[in-house]
Amino acid sequence: MSTEVTQAFTHGFPKAELHLHIEGTLEPDLKLKLAQRNHVDIGQHTIEEVQKAYQYDDLASFLAVYYPAMNVLQHEQDFYDLAFAYLQRAAANNVRHVEIFFDPQAHTSRGIPFKTVIDGLYRATVDARALNVDAQLILCFLRDFSKESARQTLETALPYKDKFIGIGLDSDEHNNPPMKFARQYEDAAAAGLHLTAHCDIDQKDSIEHIRQALEQLDVERLDHGTNIVEDPDLVQLVARKGIGLTSCPLSNSFVSPEMKGKEVLDLLAQHVKVSINSDDPAYFGGYIGDNYYALADKFNLTKAQVVQLARNSFETSWISATQKALYLKELDAYVATH
Ligand code: ADE
Ligand code: ZN
Repeated sequence: MSTEVTQAFTHGFPKAELHLHIEGTLEPDLKLKLAQRNHVDIGQHTIEEVQKAYQYDDLASFLAVYYPAMNVLQHEQDFYDLAFAYLQRAAANNVRHVEIFFDPQAHTSRGIPFKTVIDGLYRATVDARALNVDAQLILCFLRDFSKESARQTLETALPYKDKFIGIGLDSDEHNNPPMKFARQYEDAAAAGLHLTAHCDIDQKDSIEHIRQALEQLDVERLDHGTNIVEDPDLVQLVARKGIGLTSCPLSNSFVSPEMKGKEVLDLLAQHVKVSINSDDPAYFGGYIGDNYYALADKFNLTKAQVVQLARNSFETSWISATQKALYLKELDAYVATH
């Protein structure tokens, strides 16, 4: 039990969120509302029935629940409603800057045009300026789809390049190494996009995948990536290069027996820029403030450690040095008065 850190504090300080799947913010009530609006039968009719289906204990069993639910997303307005609902929650958690993942192939593979998806999401990010939240989009490739599908997705997306800032890699990591997408990462970098990739926790080839993401994809951040503690040389490398690791404690505790708090503290002590994020908050029981609080509470974090995690979130975000300095000043001012 942390004595120094309260829920009011973890929800209140200014922060950046860098690991958030917009499809993972689909709350049961919006899911049911969209199912009705779009005449999609999801086989569940009450919030309790939806929640009862949320049974998973690893990445694959989670994804088996996660993707079918996306059928309720059909129209531009649905993507807008999904994103704006999240952005309101982000504002309530004092998220000042967010870089939001979206999975175009999870929608284009169901016949929804890329334009429908990005137009709805982007319009919500524009409206979020009135909530005092600066929101950007990151296009993720589904790593269990082919590299040809990733190539086509990037080709379709590049005409909309002013609406997203980077690419990521998500979905089922088992036997889907980063290297499979080396060419797409090279093309995205050449197009001026930022680069990140999931290295999920406790995978069969976690360390090899982390190494490939760093050395072959040349990523600026690793999403999750906390298994890196098993390899001191790689830890040194990310510390030296200032590469961000986006950890998600509540998500970790669903797909593994642990929040990975020990690893987060170990990385903090080694000056790695690890941050705290919510991943798929509608499925893993909490938004970003809850994630900070759960970790602080369980691992007895000091206020200074929590503030360092928040500093890291701004420092490893893809905003200008001027913006970083302004947000960090805001964070310091909050801490000084709370
Ligand atoms: N898609 C949504 N959440 C994910 C996660 N944590 N890992 C991989 N793919 C995901
Ligand atoms: Zn994720």
